[in-house]
Amino acid sequence: MSAALEAIEVKKRGGGLPEDMIRSVVAGYAAGEVPDYQMSALLMAIFTRGMVYEETLALTAAMADSGGRYSFPECVDKHSTGGIGDKISLTSLPIAAACGAPVAKLSGRGLGQTGGTVDKLEAIPGFTCDLSESSFRRQVEEVGLAIVEAGEVAPADKEIYALRDVTGTVDSLPLIGSSIVSKKAATGAGHLLYDVKCGSGAFMKTAAEARELAELLVRLSESLGIRASALITGMAEPLGAAVGNALELRESLALLRGEPVPEDLDHEARLVAARLLYLKGISDAEAAVDRAISSGAAYEKLREFVAAQGGEADALESLAVSEAVREVVAPEGGYVAGFDALSIGQAALVLGAGRERKTDAVDHSVGVEALVKVGEEIEAGQPVARLYGERRAEEAERLVKEALSLSSGKVEAPTAILDSL
Ligand code: URA
Repeated sequence: MSAALEAIEVKKRGGGLPEDMIRSVVAGYAAGEVPDYQMSALLMAIFTRGMVYEETLALTAAMADSGGRYSFPECVDKHSTGGIGDKISLTSLPIAAACGAPVAKLSGRGLGQTGGTVDKLEAIPGFTCDLSESSFRRQVEEVGLAIVEAGEVAPADKEIYALRDVTGTVDSLPLIGSSIVSKKAATGAGHLLYDVKCGSGAFMKTAAEARELAELLVRLSESLGIRASALITGMAEPLGAAVGNALELRESLALLRGEPVPEDLDHEARLVAARLLYLKGISDAEAAVDRAISSGAAYEKLREFVAAQGGEADALESLAVSEAVREVVAPEGGYVAGFDALSIGQAALVLGAGRERKTDAVDHSVGVEALVKVGEEIEAGQPVARLYGERRAEEAERLVKEALSLSSGKVEAPTAILDSL
């Protein structure tokens, strides 16, 4: 019997998969020897029966070993589980690098309503995340910040993730945990911070689910020799105001220049940067973060990083955004009780900021700017969002209107950071 068939037989009855069997199936699938139908059956068996920690760790290590492995033991990295308007990588990483914590980061593209750092950076003319290992390594040494697109490392995860996406097996804790950590282990940064998003615009909808994933990510990382910690952050409303590639870059630049940005974004970006510095053993991290922003060092680091990856740093001052702008206004007055992240992400998606299918092209110039935050008191007719772009603009407007819920009584502004470990 083949290892794949044996694994299906064991797992469908709720048994444990031995490490050598997991390695054999993963290697066989990456080599094209295990057919999709057997891998799909095994993934569904894992989805329904689960895996104990040792199996999840073996799966993580097998996927991490399926391609080339980098090693950056001195570097820090962060990973977000994905959200709407999430520009924490664009902001916290230049800050951390400017404070002396080198960053070697693997990033992905957006899929569905969640954005991806690679797409956002590609709003800068000339910018590329397609770096060879030697250029990536040289840039980490010379600039202290490099971002490469996921793909070369952990190729088994890439194949398995694509299969999960079409077989209803994405939302499984051991499969999500092993997928994320295999890529991080293969990239080889020595210090990792996970930002587990929680709320309508995130994978994890409840605080309990988010905590469970955060614990798994940290435990897997530490078992593989990576110092790790995690934050659980809110994703019930978009982070900051901007949702969409060039718009998010503009907001990130404002933060790095020390200009006013929404409080949730400012707080979270500074906190993540400080946590990365502490992971690296840099003391008095909050003060270092403040200095990096007020002195202009963080903004300069971003420009240096952009130029090193082929981007026109001067173009950062004038990123193109769509001239087709329409405002959505509040139908009545009251306190903002909710501005649903998922619906706003969908509005940006239909305007063209993201992909409904992997092969779709992204329009970097479109998106949504949220003009209100939960807890604010607003008047009837007050603009609550600005839409950039013409494609399916009526539908986007409807989605933004549906996202807004109002209350006649006072509403507490939510905290950006829900939990930490
Ligand atoms: N992100 C990943 O990289 N993998 C998952 O399974 C889910 C989110």
